[in-house]
Amino acid sequence: MDELVSLCKRRGFVFQSGENYGGLQGVYDYGPLGVELKNNLKNAWWSSMVFERDDIEGLDAAILSKKEVFKYSGHEETFSDPLVDCKTCKSRWREDLVVDKKCPGCGSGDLTEARPFNLMFKTPVGPVESEEGFAYLRPETAQHIFTSFKNVQDSTARQIPFGIAQIGKAFRNEINPRNFIFRLREFEQMELEYFVKPGEDESALDYWCEQRLLWWKKQGIRSSSLETYDVPKDELAHYSKKTIDIMYRFPHGLEELEGIANRTDFDLGSHTKNQKDLLLSAQVTENEESTMRLAAQDLEAKTWYVPYVIEPSAGVDRGVLAVLNEAFAVENVGEGKERTVLKLKPHLSPIKAAVIPLKKNKEELVMLAKEIKQGLQSLGIGRVFLENTGNIGKAYRRHDEVGTPICITVDFDSLENQTVTIRDRDTMEQKTVGISELQQLYISALK
Ligand code: GAP
Repeated sequence: MDELVSLCKRRGFVFQSGENYGGLQGVYDYGPLGVELKNNLKNAWWSSMVFERDDIEGLDAAILSKKEVFKYSGHEETFSDPLVDCKTCKSRWREDLVVDKKCPGCGSGDLTEARPFNLMFKTPVGPVESEEGFAYLRPETAQHIFTSFKNVQDSTARQIPFGIAQIGKAFRNEINPRNFIFRLREFEQMELEYFVKPGEDESALDYWCEQRLLWWKKQGIRSSSLETYDVPKDELAHYSKKTIDIMYRFPHGLEELEGIANRTDFDLGSHTKNQKDLLLSAQVTENEESTMRLAAQDLEAKTWYVPYVIEPSAGVDRGVLAVLNEAFAVENVGEGKERTVLKLKPHLSPIKAAVIPLKKNKEELVMLAKEIKQGLQSLGIGRVFLENTGNIGKAYRRHDEVGTPICITVDFDSLENQTVTIRDRDTMEQKTVGISELQQLYISALK
């Protein structure tokens, strides 16, 4: 982990947030290359969920949430970790981190009994702070998918089965954020809520487990680094009938990368009941069907039912850590020398190609390199970087370290013969190609 953290900082992937003020625990900033990698991972997820299928719609709901949403979702009552205080060093720990009734910080045995600590962040809304006037920062993106279910369904005329996908920030006041970007207080999730008829939920859960494992493999994660974990009944979240976790061998151990839960009709059901109560208390004399606002209609039986939902929920930051860890390698390149290389899948690489003029002060070379860069950039595949440092060896080393799949060197032959040298990141092989072939080669290298 230390080598990875150091690479992330040195090359501008991830930094501690507010570092110059000592850092805010559990909060990180993504730097120039980190933001590209993270966006590429999110785009790959979005593409596989929304663009490549015909049964899923997208959503980007608000982060600030009315407190009723998390009251009726059950989070106010149950979204807590048991917390233990050390009376000696005044530190606080999640109960599961306390071994042999000893404080993990100072070793003292003088600990309080465990008590529940709610993980949701509250923030005042409006100019007057009061007990009542607050909103929650959502602890999962899922709830607004449920509360927006009817709006999405009505505006798209979707019939069950269909899904709603969302990527966005979530916030949890974790007691012990740790392991770099693994456990954070501010993080991102990629969540799909896939609505099915009751009775079709169990096969849908199996289907989504398979799909999600395949997707992680497409992001470059080896099968041997993944495992599934059938969460035991007494560890299930309050809404879940069954959950399968996709576990990844992180540098600090085998831990959850994504959870796939059968949330049954728990969420739509509890928001529906609340909606009905609200409508009735406002003395709206609607018939039973129209008060069931979060229900779906069985067109054949002409009855209403609350759909079940299968939820594949993946952490973006854990995904970034997993693909970085998987791609990271230190290789022997002969003569006692080593190189560090990130063998990222090309679609995830922050920089797709580096164009390098052999000499930084040779105007004709730089002009031609700029032209080549613009041509490749206009293909819209991702960031193409003009690397005008004048030191080819260093440029190759830097681009190996940040996972750039190809480097294109512009030299004096380029001016005379209209050729460039392409170097492949993984094999380090170099070949001379005509500039006229470059765009096609670039497209095939990035597939
Ligand atoms: N909507 C369901 C849900 O939120 P979860 O298992 O609590 O379920 C889903 O979270 C995923 O979100 C996890 O598998 C993990 O990848 C990510 N995640 C959860 N808490 C996190 C944290 N504190 N820091 C980073 N990622 C987190």
